[in-house]
Order: sequence, then C-alpha cells, then structure tokens
Amino acid sequence: MTTFTIIGTGTMANAIGGVLAEGGSSVSYVAKDQVGEAPLAGDVVVLAVPFPAVDSILAAYGDAFDGKVVVDITNPLDFETFDSLVVPAGSSATAEIQVKIPHARVLKAFNTTFAATLASKKVGDAPTTVLVAGDSSDAKSALIAAIEAGGVGAIDAGSLARAHELEAIGFAQLTLAVSEKLPWTGGFAVAR
Ligand SMILES: NC(=O)c1ccc[n+]([C@@H]2O[C@H](COP(=O)([O-])OP(=O)(O)OC[C@H]3O[C@@H](n4cnc5c(N)ncnc54)[C@H](OP(=O)(O)O)[C@@H]3O)[C@@H](O)[C@H]2O)c1
Repeated sequence: MTTFTIIGTGTMANAIGGVLAEGGSSVSYVAKDQVGEAPLAGDVVVLAVPFPAVDSILAAYGDAFDGKVVVDITNPLDFETFDSLVVPAGSSATAEIQVKIPHARVLKAFNTTFAATLASKKVGDAPTTVLVAGDSSDAKSALIAAIEAGGVGAIDAGSLARAHELEAIGFAQLTLAVSEKLPWTGGFAVAR
C-alpha cells in the first residue's frame, strides 16, 4: 500500500485524495496552517496548492522531502493575464521544484484533469486518464497503480522533461474552460 500526504485541503486535494483512498491507499492531509508543523507521513507527498505557494512549503519542510516522491499538480499560469506561464520558457514548474529538492523524486501528474473529472472518473463520456511524467520509473509505477486502484486511468507520459508539455496541455485546457468553451466536467480525454 502506498502512503500519501496531500498538502492542501482544497478542490484538487479532495478529488485526488478521494481517488487514492478509494483505491486503498492511506491518505493524510496537511492544511495551510499546519505547513511545516504536521509531519510528511506519506512516502508520496502531493503538492495540491497553487504554484506560488510551493516555494514557502519547500522552505518550511527543507530536507524532510529527502527520499520522498513529490507530486506536482500545478498549472503555473499567470492568473492575471491567462496569457502565459510563469516558469522559464522550455522549463516547467516540476523541473523547477526538482532543482530545489534534489533528493526527492518529483513527478508531474493531475494537472491535465479537472477536479470534477477525477471525482466522476469521466471526461464527458470518456474515462478520465491522469498523465504522469518524471524520471523515476518506480515512482511513476507506484503512483499509476494507486490511481488505477481508485478506478481512474493513468499513463506514464515520459520523463521529467515532458512536464513542460503537460503544463502546455493544462494551460490550453484551462484557458478553454475559463472562456466557457469547455465545461469543468469535460476537458481533454485520452482515447485508447
Ligand atoms: N481545480 C482543478 O480542476 C485543477 C486541475 C488541475 C490542476 N489544478 C492545480 O491544482 C492546484 C490546487 O488547485 P485547487 O483547485 O485545488 O485550489 P483550491 O481549491 O483553491 O485549493 C488550494 C489549497 O492550497 C492551500 N494553500 C494556498 N496557499 C497556500 C500556502 N501558501 N501554503 C499552503 N497551502 C496553501 C489552500 O489553503 P486555504 O484554503 O486555507 O487557503 C487550499 O487548501 C493548483 O496548483 C492548480 O493549478 C487544479
């Protein structure tokens, strides 16, 4: 059984935690006012927070991230303009996080699936599929197995470098939903 600590108690934290718990994983949560104080009990830590909150969380826990699998779910948009990402061109939030916690194995996941589609397990009429990127095959396999056990599809989308493309997909999907061209219960699905 994989043990998860989810930092954040918002929409995505609950949707992700629901899937993982349904699959039999142990899930604990760290609320905003517990950051740095509540232990990172899980082998896998999910950062279910806005991208601008990540730095302060990394600083609060420091080397407590060593040896952990860390899942970055963020879409690092400029939410003032909805017209760009705030990470360096060609890079990704995930790559930036990996540099800051080099002794953790950082994965990108869940950024291309709206919360409602994790809860319903459907994107429109299609099954929901989580795309997972990172450099550790073992970490990706464990996360994918935990997601699938919860009844949601998951695919290994490649190395940490693919986080850049996943963030581009998340960016495009988010702008479509914000402009009401896609419902929050829909989005991009994987047909296979
Ligand atoms: N919603 C989606 O469908 C969706 C889909 C894909 C990816 N994402 C990504 O998922 C992440 C979470 O989104 P969400 O929709 O779940 O947002 P949300 O409902 O607003 O939840 C955000 C959570 O982060 C906490 N938080 C905010 N600032 C923090 C800080 N400085 N330190 C610690 N915790 C902090 C919030 O605590 P308080 O409530 O106490 O402020 C809340 O628990 C974002 O990066 C977003 O881009 C969202």
